[in-house]
Amino acid sequence: MQALGIDIGGSGIKGAPVDIKTGKLLAERIRIPTPNGAKPKAVALVVAEIAQAFNWKKEIGVGFPAPIKHGVALMAANVSEKWVGTNADELFTSITGCKCHVGNDADVAGMAEMAFGMGKGEHGTVIMITLGTGIGSAIFYNGHLLPNTEFGHMQINGKDAEHRASDAARQREDMSWKKYAKRLNEYLNEMEKLFWPDLFIIGGGISKQHEKFLPLLKLQSRVVPAQFQNEAGIVGAALFSQGTAVKF
Ligand code: BGC
Repeated sequence: MQALGIDIGGSGIKGAPVDIKTGKLLAERIRIPTPNGAKPKAVALVVAEIAQAFNWKKEIGVGFPAPIKHGVALMAANVSEKWVGTNADELFTSITGCKCHVGNDADVAGMAEMAFGMGKGEHGTVIMITLGTGIGSAIFYNGHLLPNTEFGHMQINGKDAEHRASDAARQREDMSWKKYAKRLNEYLNEMEKLFWPDLFIIGGGISKQHEKFLPLLKLQSRVVPAQFQNEAGIVGAALFSQGTAVKF
């Protein structure tokens, strides 16, 4: 069974058809820069462009950087304010002509890792953290997701964690890997004190360079890079479109 998975990020919108039984991409992904301001209609047109590029007519799963309930975006941190209250399921479905299912980007990325990647077979508490324009969180207990956690907005030293420890913050402040690892450690340490996870899975584009910063972390929990690296969002979005639950 196949579904098109689309991952909407602060800087790029990526998509590819995915075999939802294996989690494998069935074609090379397409990436289109996120339109300036990331307003609903402009973003929806890019989703449609990706669907058309694959001549897609079936279900589409979309990971979106906001808490989403029944298809509706509830908040907007790194996208236009116009998203708040927008039914993204309906908007994308009407523009693409395909049935679209939208979920939080970190939640769906976590689903991919739990089903096929580093979380496969992991019981206990697993926390997926995605580091990109913002920080996304997905928390699983015995494979079950607690949806729409927003721990990128946890306050550290009076600031949103994502303003200090996202990959965008690292680039903006031109941090050395050592300095960045310190910032990330501070954040993960707070998460650790609150949840006592068995495993942290670190995703987002930066996870490709995990050797530069993960070995510098000092935490009690195990920490691993996401197996799908930056593609977890695409694979997870495809799974989400089928309502595929995490399987052990
Ligand atoms: C958003 C989250 C999202 C994360 C990663 C945050 O700013 O509030 O919903 O998961 O960025 O994209």
